[in-house]
Amino acid sequence: MPHVPADFLPLGEAARIETQRALSPLALGLEDSMIRHVAAEVWALQAEGQEVCNLTIGDFAPAEFPVPAAFLDRLEQELRSGQTNYTPSDGIPELRRAVVDLYRRELGLEFAPEAVVIGGGARPVMFAVFACFLTAGDGFAYGVPSWNTQYYVYLMGCEHLAIRTQAASRFLPTGAQVAEVLPRARLLILNSPLNPTGTAYRAEELQAVCEAVLAENRRRQSDGRPPVILVYDMVYWTLTGPGQAHVHPLALVPELSPWTVYVDAISKSLSATGLRVGWAVAPLHLKPALKFYVGHTGGFAPRAEQRAAAWYFGQPDILLQDRAVLNRGIRERLAMLVEAMSAWKAAGLPVDFIPPEGGIYLSTRFALHGRTVDGVRLATNEDVRRLLLQKAGVAVVPFQGFGLDEESGWFRMSVGGVGRTSLQRGLERLQALLTSIGS
Ligand SMILES: Cc1ncc(COP(=O)(O)O)c(C=O)c1O
Repeated sequence: MPHVPADFLPLGEAARIETQRALSPLALGLEDSMIRHVAAEVWALQAEGQEVCNLTIGDFAPAEFPVPAAFLDRLEQELRSGQTNYTPSDGIPELRRAVVDLYRRELGLEFAPEAVVIGGGARPVMFAVFACFLTAGDGFAYGVPSWNTQYYVYLMGCEHLAIRTQAASRFLPTGAQVAEVLPRARLLILNSPLNPTGTAYRAEELQAVCEAVLAENRRRQSDGRPPVILVYDMVYWTLTGPGQAHVHPLALVPELSPWTVYVDAISKSLSATGLRVGWAVAPLHLKPALKFYVGHTGGFAPRAEQRAAAWYFGQPDILLQDRAVLNRGIRERLAMLVEAMSAWKAAGLPVDFIPPEGGIYLSTRFALHGRTVDGVRLATNEDVRRLLLQKAGVAVVPFQGFGLDEESGWFRMSVGGVGRTSLQRGLERLQALLTSIGS
């Protein structure tokens, strides 16, 4: 029998009281993400032998979307040759230079390698940015729906300045909406292409947002208030549809450069979510603080991964070819969804969607509220989610999981974790269910 200290044993009510006593107020307020709760339900059904078309996962199934082979080969070489030590806290110079070259080549951006700080994925550098600019109580502005942001605001003890976006603006915060919250904001985070909606800013839309931030910061320069920091999360920027150009703030309003931080990673662009390499590109005068924060919190990326990424970014032919393969797989699956949704909508079934513009997601609407199916009245998005899962074996995440708490029938569908056959079968089951409910 292994020795288990008594304090590690479950204690029922006593455990609950002890938890309350022991944890900090911050920890007591932590919640698990809704996506995980939905995913757990899917796994339980699958364990019972039920076929589920799982459109909940914001990740890539390696069998469908493997990490590029050239990257993996190089990573293995780096690991075997002993590249296993600490790196400088802002990352190895080769990777910082490679990021600068990548952005110059593909985005027309000119940064110094010293402006880059590498982290173990996008989130460690995002938290460095939050910690370096925010004080508890500051206004943290963000659009809803958006992935995870409500948890970031909570963790930073900031005031939620949630911008409730509309389907009409493809769930992207508009310039006017941003201008309204800016006077109370210390930081604004934007994400394009956007998780969960699969929509992406067009130049004129992002320009309006950027001009609002610039006007606010110009006012603050004269009244002495600290500026609004614009964080531009573009982890999906390489996963865009054909003819869809990725737009970013500094190409549109270069005067924002003293206050703009870009965040990016290999997590999505190389379908390598578990390999943990990300980076922020920040104004040079603000970068040292980010470096210190990443260093002190150990938020850096493993050396071997950094070296493999530096090498890989320096092989544009391989990179573009791998990217095309990944994008083709994503676009094919999204096209299957769009084709089905369009046909159902044309047939008068209560569905809608927003044409995908980037990322691995589709915004879909199931306007089934108020209907009664098998004696159950559907009142909320959660009711609809359960219906789709239980009666059609199709798993989706309501926009509530992304901070938009209205019962308007919008859901995220993700194609990263699904094969074409499973998707096809899921769509057939969904069509049968929707048809049985009728228009
Ligand atoms: C918009 C967005 N930003 C950041 C991240 C986190 O990236 P990482 O896994 O590199 O921390 C995700 C992950 O899903 C995301 O969707």
